Formats: sequence, structure tokens, C-alpha cells
Amino acid sequence: MKAVFLDRDGTLIEDRGYIASPDDAVFLPSAFLALRRLSKNNLLFMVTQQSGVARGILSMENVRRVNNYIERRLADAGIHIQHSYFCPHDTEDRCPCKKPSPFFLSDAAVRWGIDLADSYVIGDHPHDVEMAKAAGAHGIYVLSGHGRKHRAELQGEWTVANDIGEAADWVAALHCHGNQPALLDDAIQKSASAVKNGGVVVFPTETVYGVGADAFNEKAISRIYRMKGRPASNPLIVHEATAEKAFQLTTSRNGKAEILANHFWPGPLTLVLPAHHSVPPPVTAGLPTVAIRVPGHPVARAFIHAAGSPIAAPSANPSGFLSPVTALHAADFVYDAPDVIIDGGECRFGIESTVISLTNQVPLLLRHGALPLEAIRRLIGEVRVADPLRSAMQSPGMMRRHYAPKTPLHVIPAGLPLDDDLGLVGVLTIGGHTSRNDHERAELTRVLSGDRDMILAGLYNALHDLDSAGLDSIAVRLTGTASACPVLSDRIRRASYQVKEGCR
Ligand code: TXA
Ligand code: MG
Repeated sequence: MKAVFLDRDGTLIEDRGYIASPDDAVFLPSAFLALRRLSKNNLLFMVTQQSGVARGILSMENVRRVNNYIERRLADAGIHIQHSYFCPHDTEDRCPCKKPSPFFLSDAAVRWGIDLADSYVIGDHPHDVEMAKAAGAHGIYVLSGHGRKHRAELQGEWTVANDIGEAADWVAALHCHGNQPALLDDAIQKSASAVKNGGVVVFPTETVYGVGADAFNEKAISRIYRMKGRPASNPLIVHEATAEKAFQLTTSRNGKAEILANHFWPGPLTLVLPAHHSVPPPVTAGLPTVAIRVPGHPVARAFIHAAGSPIAAPSANPSGFLSPVTALHAADFVYDAPDVIIDGGECRFGIESTVISLTNQVPLLLRHGALPLEAIRRLIGEVRVADPLRSAMQSPGMMRRHYAPKTPLHVIPAGLPLDDDLGLVGVLTIGGHTSRNDHERAELTRVLSGDRDMILAGLYNALHDLDSAGLDSIAVRLTGTASACPVLSDRIRRASYQVKEGCR
């Protein structure tokens, strides 16, 4: 059994000093998606240092109430915390449990049969990762909370992440490499060399897997188009390791671009800006603009950094079909194989980045994606939304049929029975339960529930499952608030658009 031990303040919730009441427990934005992903193949524990108790500032009851509140909120989102440990002591108490003592980790190992060598500690203080080391586990140091401030005190080489979301990405990628950082690093270095030699690499991002090459190598870029069977008119996103480098690919970095980059990078947002003349035409499909993004996956950034050049990369799937959210999905090219695949496990967001053009006075949303439009509007005000029927001209990737499984997909309104014409049918119910009739009629059922991010994170995985099950058709039931989610309805609509209706 594997486990992830999570520090509380500064890692899961904002570090607000001594937290006495649940009212002061504010989750960090990336916590839910990260924990949901981690909870799929790890037991989760909270391990927190609350010396406020020893100092008479907090009571044991205060700490318990806050911990219970956190556990409850997570449970509501389908995330189970196996146990919460806390040390109420101060240094003078000479207790056995104060971090970096691995006391609680050893206790959990015995009580739940956990193999600490395959387990992780995530925390924003050097004592968190030192505790991991003392237990023979792996430590990931996050820069949220007090992480940035204490970084100078960190002794030795540690895996570092911006926040718990990125820490979860490291854990997933390391799990795929026998929990050996050296093996993951080998894969990253091998990929970087491949790119330097003009090769093509499949790599994980926090959204979906990308298939990338040196953005300045036109031959390698042409190979990506061939591999995907992608129309030459559909430009690629260029990925960079830092915002500074990404903006070097553009000629103007207007105020709104700076604000969005500061706020959301690294992360699932793509900005379309006037292209620098150095960006070769195959990347931009001859347009005067370029799409840039700094991915929020630490392995993606490590790979880009090691390659030493910007990486132009579309999603790693044959053109028009479902984006890959595991390395296995990304191995599905018909025309040519990539030189290297970096396995990073399942993608955290599981849906493509949001694409916004900043080339006009009023920003224009070209593609709904992982980052909600409201989050962008809150920062920069008015944003127009490209008309999907006309957007093929504004963003050539917005073809009507896209993001589609190979199996015909139909959206069936609630209450309408599944027609016999559907043959062997699989049902994907989004935002509710599978009805008894659907259960009886379907060969295979999948359910996606929870909030927007949780549904999106499971969408492509569920569709890939259904698509590989040898069915005649896939029926999608969109229920409740899920039907009002723009990105979800956009992807489902495109996935269900039939070629015979004349879209391509
Ligand atoms: O999350 C993502 O964005 C993933 C990962 C790998 O980064 N990438 C991705 O790439 O989804 P792709 O190629 O499947 O989609 C890129 C989208 C397309 O809709 C494309 O038309 C649009 O971005 N795009 C790229 N360059 C553009 C440009 N210069 N102007 C307008 N749209 C552009
Ligand atoms: Mg902390």
C-alpha cells in the first residue's frame, strides 16, 4: 500500500498562523484536483504541526475541529483522508512526534501496512521533506505557504513544486518510474536529446499529453502534422518553461497578457498574440499570431528547460479525435511513432487549456478549456466568446467535429429511451446516476459526478474507456448543472458531430 502524507497549513490550506476555527480554513486553489488524483492510488494522511497548543494559543479541540472540517469538505468531493495526525508540542516538550521526526509515518506504516519506500510527503517547510527522508519515503517541497521563504534553509537536493497540484504531478510521474527520480530524469534527458536532434516527443502536461518538437525546427514540426494527420491550416501551441521566454516569441506583451500570465502561468491557459518573425510558418500555420503557454506540469517544464528550445506541441492524438490523458492513449498514432514517450500517469485537469486571443481591443475566447472563462473575466473584464460556427476562421482548430471518439457518440435527452438502432451501446451519465433502464440496456456504463473540475478531469478517460470497448455507439446523458457547463457542452457537441453531416 502506498501513501501520501500531506502537510496542512501552507500545503492544503492557506497558512494563516494559528488556525482556531474552520472559518479560517481556506483551501488552496489546486488542492481538490490534486488530492482527487492522488487518492486514486494512494492512501492519504494529514500530518500537521500545531505547536500553538503547547504555547497556549490553540486548544486540542480547536485543532480537531479544523481537521474534521477539512476532512469533511474533502469527503464531500469524494476524497478520503485515512487519518489526520497532529503534534501539539513545542521543541522544549521533547516529544517523539514533532516534525521532522517520522513518528506518525511509522505509526501509519504499521496500522495500514504502508510501504514507506513507495510513499510521499508533501509540505511547505524543510521539516516536512526531512521527515520523509527520516522515514525512507520521498519528499516533495512546495513553494506555496511559507515554502518560498524557507527554501534557503532546505538542505540537499529535493523535488520542488509550485503547489500541491504540481506536487501531485510529480508523484504520478515518479510512480511511473519506480519512484526513482533518476529514472524520471533519464526519461526527461532522453527526450531533450531527441528534441535537440530534431526528434518528436510525447510528454505529459497538466491538461492533456502533447506531442512536441523544437518550435524552430520546421522539419520536425512538419513531422508532427504528418503523425497527426493534422490539416496544415491548424496552428500549434508553443510551450515554454517561463513566461519571460514565452513572451520572446511575440512582438507585443500588452497589459492584459501580462496580468493573465502573472496570474495563471504556469497553468492551463494559452495566449494568442502577434508572432515574432522568428517563429516559423508551420507553427503558426502562416498566421501573423502565435499561441503560447507555460504548462503547469513540472515534468513538462523540466523537459522544455532541458531541451533548451520552445516546444511546439499539439495534443498527442490523431487529428479530430479524443485528446490523450494517459501515456497509453498517446501511443495511438497511425502514421508514425514518436521518438520518446515520457510517462507521467494520468493528466490532472484532463481537458485542454483555455485559448484566448489578445490581438484585438477586446480579448476573444477561442476555446473553452480547463481554466473557466469567469476566472479570466474577473481579472481583465470584458471577454468576447468566439462564435463556434465562425471560429474556424479565427482559430482553425475549432472545427465542428473534434475531440471525438472513433465510436459514434450521441447525446440522448433525459427520459428518452435508448433506441435499438444504437446497437451495442455504452452509456456515459454526466452529473447524475445511471437510470435503471440504461443499466439494463447498456453493455458498459460510466458515471461522472462532482463539481466542474472533477467531471472534466474524468471526461476523456471515460470516453477513451468506452471507445476501446468495441461498442457500436456511445450514448451521453447530460444532466443537472453539468449541461450548463460551457466547456463540457462544447466538447460533447463536437464529439457527437457526425462526419456524414458534412463538417469536414
Ligand atoms: O492543453 C493544451 O492546450 C494541449 C497541451 C498539449 O498543451 N494542447 C492542445 O493543442 O490542445 P491543440 O493543437 O490540440 O490545440 C491548439 C488550439 C487549436 O484550437 C488551434 O487552432 C489554436 O490552439 N491555436 C494555435 N495557434 C493559434 C493561433 N495563432 N491563432 C488562433 N488559434 C490558435
Ligand atoms: Mg506547512
